[in-house]
Amino acid sequence: MSTNVVWHEGLITREARAKLLGQKGATVWLSGLSGSGKSTVSVELEQQLFAKKVLSYRLDGDNIRQGLNKNLSFSPADRKENIRRISEVAKLMCDIGVVVTTAFISPYTEDRDMAREIHKAASIPFIEVFVDCPLEVAESRDPKGLYKKARSGEIKNFTGIDAPYEKPPSPEITLDTSKQTIAECAAVILTYLTEKGLISSEPKEEAKPAKELEVAPAAPAAEAEAEKVPAAV
Ligand SMILES: Nc1ncnc2c1ncn2[C@@H]1O[C@H](COP(=O)(O)OP(=O)(O)OP(=O)(O)O)[C@@H](O)[C@H]1O
Ligand SMILES: [Mg+2]
Repeated sequence: MSTNVVWHEGLITREARAKLLGQKGATVWLSGLSGSGKSTVSVELEQQLFAKKVLSYRLDGDNIRQGLNKNLSFSPADRKENIRRISEVAKLMCDIGVVVTTAFISPYTEDRDMAREIHKAASIPFIEVFVDCPLEVAESRDPKGLYKKARSGEIKNFTGIDAPYEKPPSPEITLDTSKQTIAECAAVILTYLTEKGLISSEPKEEAKPAKELEVAPAAPAAEAEAEKVPAAV
C-alpha cells in the first residue's frame, strides 16, 4: 500500500479533453463464460463504433494476460487483482475520453462490483454486459480447445467446469449469443450507448489528416562534427 502520496492535479480537465475529442469515456464491461462470445462481440462493437468515428479500445483478457497481467494466475485472489488492474486501466483510458470495452470472464459478482465502484468513484459510466450463453453451447464452440482440456483435468480452476460463474444479478444489458447474432449483440450495446447519450447520435466531423512531420535539415556545423565521431564497432 502506497503512503504519503498526494494527487497532482493537471490543468486540462476531462471535460476539456472530451471537447477536444468530441467524445466521452465509458466502460462497457463484458462478462460471461469462456466461449460465450465476449471477445467476438467486443471486436464487432469496436468496428461498429469506429464506423461512427468513435474511438474505442478493447481490453481483452487473453491479451492483457500476456503483458500487464502476465504474473497472475486464475486463483480467486489473482482473478480479483486481474479485475482491479483492468478497472484502473479502463478508468484511465476513460479519463482520456476513450470508450473502453473489456472482455474478461470476471466470474465473481464481488469483483465486478469492485470494477463498478472504481468507475463510480471517478464518475465514469460503467455498463455491465452479461454475455449469456448456455454452458453446453459455449462448450460445443470451444474456440480455444480449453473446455476439452478442463474436462480432461489438464486445466484446473476453469470457469463453468471446476470454478464457479456467478451470473450478474442486475446488468445494464443481457445478451444471449446462442440466439442473437454477433452483429445484433454489438448493435444492442451501440444502441444503449446512443440512447444514454454516452456516444453522439450525430455523425462526427471528418478528422483532418495530420500534417507530415517536417524534419529540419541538420546544420552544416553539426554535420561536420558528426563526421569526426568514430563509427561504433
Ligand atoms: N452470436 C454470437 N456472439 C458471439 N460469438 C459467437 C456467436 N455465435 C457464434 N459465436 C462464436 O463463439 C465463439 C466465441 O468465442 P470468444 O473467443 O469470443 O469467447 P470469449 O467469451 O471471449 O471466451 P474467453 O473467455 O475464453 O476469451 C467464437 O468462435 C464465435 O465465432
Ligand atoms: Mg475472449
